[in-house]
Amino acid sequence: MDLIVARNREDLVKARGGGEVALVPTMGALHEGHRSLMRLARSRADQVVVSVFVNPLQFGPNEDFSRYPRTFEADLEVCRAEGVDVVFHPSAEDMYRPDRQVSLLAGRMGEIVEGESRPGHFDGVLTVVLKLFNLVQPSVAVFGQKDAQQLALIRRMVADLDVPVEIVGAPTVREHDGLALSSRNRYLSEDDRQVALALSRALRAGEAERRPGAIREAARAVLAAAGPRLDLDYVVLVDPATFTEVGEEHAGEAVLAVAARIGATRLIDNVVLTVN
Ligand code: PAJ
Repeated sequence: MDLIVARNREDLVKARGGGEVALVPTMGALHEGHRSLMRLARSRADQVVVSVFVNPLQFGPNEDFSRYPRTFEADLEVCRAEGVDVVFHPSAEDMYRPDRQVSLLAGRMGEIVEGESRPGHFDGVLTVVLKLFNLVQPSVAVFGQKDAQQLALIRRMVADLDVPVEIVGAPTVREHDGLALSSRNRYLSEDDRQVALALSRALRAGEAERRPGAIREAARAVLAAAGPRLDLDYVVLVDPATFTEVGEEHAGEAVLAVAARIGATRLIDNVVLTVN
């Protein structure tokens, strides 16, 4: 069957079949990382719905909402090639009533690490994701580990608010040289891109160590060696479920997460590793 494009909630209701639906929420500018989520979704349900919506609520006043890449025709080709059943592409007016006032608060976990640099970001993410869940009514939704804190917060929302959707996490897809795929990579010049490789290199240096102090130190050393064109925001080693820093006595899984600005482009990356 051909791909159905639903541009508003009425079209979505008509397009939604009776069986189990897997949802892949995206902001478009689709790349191989998004494609891997679609394939995982395909294996989990009768119908795959991909949402393409650049959510104004999750961008701060000085962030890149207006210049965020919008490549809808190319995105449709990607979805068609992946055998997606429905693309939900609403307008901001259709998603947000002018008189809306109720929204979600991510809580403490939304204010630390990435949330400290992007106040209100995770409130906006959770609000749109819950709205998408209510509109699409999926049994499963797939999110990338690339945005580890987002994934952790969505799991938390589902648990705290008893949302009847199974959350599936998908591994980070990388370029051959290690750079994590991101819609924002297209902003990078060739020189920027070389500097950006320090992020994944720092994570690999951290992975080679065993103790929290040594892991943080190894990652920091690589980022410092990248020079002044890499403007480091944070490098943290945190508990995967709470995103609070782990102590030196920690044993078990931890997330080594990094954020940096290269020119005007802000990139994030992370790995899950075992501290022992
Ligand atoms: P977006 O940045 O478009 O990402 C959509 C999904 O793709 C997210 O779950 C993200 O983690 C995943 N993803 C991005 N890069 C990836 C990579 N290299 N490998 C694997 N998965 C990757 O995240 C958002 O949009 C928004 O915040 C959204 C959840 C849609 C809410 O607006």
